Amino acid sequence: MSTKKFSMILLLAAMGFMYSFSTSNVGDPWVVPAKYKSMANPLKGDKASIAEGKALYIKHCKSCHGKEGLGDGPKAAQLKTKCGDFTADLGPQTDGALFYKLTEGRDDMPSFKKKIPADEDRWSIVNYLRTLK
Ligand code: HEC
Repeated sequence: MSTKKFSMILLLAAMGFMYSFSTSNVGDPWVVPAKYKSMANPLKGDKASIAEGKALYIKHCKSCHGKEGLGDGPKAAQLKTKCGDFTADLGPQTDGALFYKLTEGRDDMPSFKKKIPADEDRWSIVNYLRTLK
């Protein structure tokens, strides 16, 4: 291999390495597309929906986010990313933004699009998250 080719490969490798750092989003704000931000919650946050959301939360979310949403579930310590504190962080966010985040996920936060496929179920979880204050 020529020196020129070799240094080209080295350069590309270095660029890839730097790129992997620049895309790590630990601590970055989580940008929610406008479409989701303004998306209306189709469910009333009534007792039935909140109870449904709570059951799903216990099954799918508690292990990381903790029983009270403080981010202190048993799995939280093994993650690179902090789970946040639902009792403090959710207030200013729209229902649609929360729906987007739990639907799509990012890094340590799993996507629940496939695991909880019914939109209604995911909106019920949003309704339950609103009760964690
Ligand atoms: C494997 C651990 C894990 C599980 C399970 C998990 N999460 Fe998360 N979640 C995270 C982490 C880590 C973050 C922070 C992600 C980030 O900032 O990049 C997060 C962030 C979030 C956020 C954004 C919080 C904010 O302040 O904007 C919401 C909403 C959320 N999770 C909801 C849920 C719901 C609802 C479930 C269950 C259906 C769930 N998560 C299950 C780890 C988890």
